[in-house]
Amino acid sequence: LVLLLLLVAQISSNDDVAIALSTLHSPLPSDFLFGTASSSYQYEGAYLSDGKGLNNWDVFSHTPGKIIDACNGDVAVDHYHRYLEDIELMDALKVNSYRFSISWARILPKGRLGEVNLAGINFYNRLIDALLLKGIQPFVTLTHFDIPQELEDRYGGWLSPQSQEDFAYYAEVCFKWFGDRVKYWTTFNEPNMQVSNGYRNAKFPPSRCSKPFGDCIEGDSESEPFIAAHNVILSHAAAVDIYRTKYQREQKGIIGIVINANWYEPISNSTADKMASERALSFSLNWFLDPIIFGKYPSEMEEILGSILPKFSSIEMVKLQKGLDFIGINYYYASYAKDCIFSTCKSGEGITRTEGLYLKTKEKNGVPIGKPTSIGWPIYPQGMEKAIRHVKDRYNNIPMFLTENGCGETDNPNATLEEYTNDVERVQYMEGHSNALFSAIRDGADVRGYFAWSFLDNFEWEYGYTRRFGLYYVDYSTLKRIPKLSASWYKQFITKHKTEA
Ligand code: NOJ
Repeated sequence: LVLLLLLVAQISSNDDVAIALSTLHSPLPSDFLFGTASSSYQYEGAYLSDGKGLNNWDVFSHTPGKIIDACNGDVAVDHYHRYLEDIELMDALKVNSYRFSISWARILPKGRLGEVNLAGINFYNRLIDALLLKGIQPFVTLTHFDIPQELEDRYGGWLSPQSQEDFAYYAEVCFKWFGDRVKYWTTFNEPNMQVSNGYRNAKFPPSRCSKPFGDCIEGDSESEPFIAAHNVILSHAAAVDIYRTKYQREQKGIIGIVINANWYEPISNSTADKMASERALSFSLNWFLDPIIFGKYPSEMEEILGSILPKFSSIEMVKLQKGLDFIGINYYYASYAKDCIFSTCKSGEGITRTEGLYLKTKEKNGVPIGKPTSIGWPIYPQGMEKAIRHVKDRYNNIPMFLTENGCGETDNPNATLEEYTNDVERVQYMEGHSNALFSAIRDGADVRGYFAWSFLDNFEWEYGYTRRFGLYYVDYSTLKRIPKLSASWYKQFITKHKTEA
């Protein structure tokens, strides 16, 4: 034994060996969060239970024609009743964090009017306590697309500045009740997707657009996404202000926002196409992060949009100074961007002035940017690495969390259970993206956690139950959860990197 100890001491004093070992070593910090992600409307069900009010998604999903399979989240995966079973499964996966969102309408059924719904508070208390008992950190989103319908009916939701006060009030209720145990808060999930889908193309509630191309409520799709975004940004600032001034010192948590960071590659090496890909980012990711971090919208947006883009008053600029503690990045896939300022783009996504004047495509000369999964999203892990690097460089390496990343597959009702659970493509996807993450971290990016989307198959918004993202297969007729190959891959991955860290 003495000889062995001497040998170890000699090896560890040898710098060359130490360096050789460290390159093999996991680049993840020892307090790295390994998690899975979910959201209230996609998971909970129990849509009328225990005093919950109706939210915008309850109403939207019950409107004929809105959801591809005419389904809704009334039951979803019944997480509201099965959360204990679900926490056991998470524990088996060895995750140390769970990202979920709070249903605003469960806590404040009428937005701000009326009492706090204690039955709703108790559900989240039980959920949080049960997670902590297993050593799983709650990573909580205040709103993941669902807001009380009352706020839509009363004043048009995010189109009204009143939403700022109501969101701040709701956020404070959450800090007050849960902040003793919740140390990671995010205000919004993917507001860039939320406002484009809600106010430009009517895929989400409140289902507004200018030129009805399906059925949408007549709105002004030129200006409304920017008005809604402005209110969302200021709502974020108001909630952060309350957290900083009244809760953060005592509760010692951190607060941020989650943005969709799908990547854009220029379709050619031309300067115009390179600028187009930068514009695409400015009109999605930087649209929200620049004001929160620098106090102003990206200059490309100001130049192209002119008076359509709201301005921050001097009082609002002061509010924005509270910033954020971290950025949550959701990454799924990448597209090509082609310039539409110097060349003409006849039709397609991204081409209008309010979208940023670039053409978004998944292919270049008929070749996809990455192999598409069955839902058509190309697998392109390099895009995730580049998105992290973009956020790192533009925002001075503010701490980041990969708050969502995952592989979606189309549901095939004729598939056998064996086919459903043998999700080799998802494993390859996760392997590729975890390598991209490692490479970004080795390059100096301050990424502190990774959350797989998703823990279970669930309700995928306008696609209903026709798209599956889960590490666990859910049989929707029995609600049974069955592990896929990706669940055991993730468990092994976590075990390996936790030990190494
Ligand atoms: C991001 C959204 O936050 C989540 O709700 C959705 O299910 C996934 N993308 C997959 O589309």
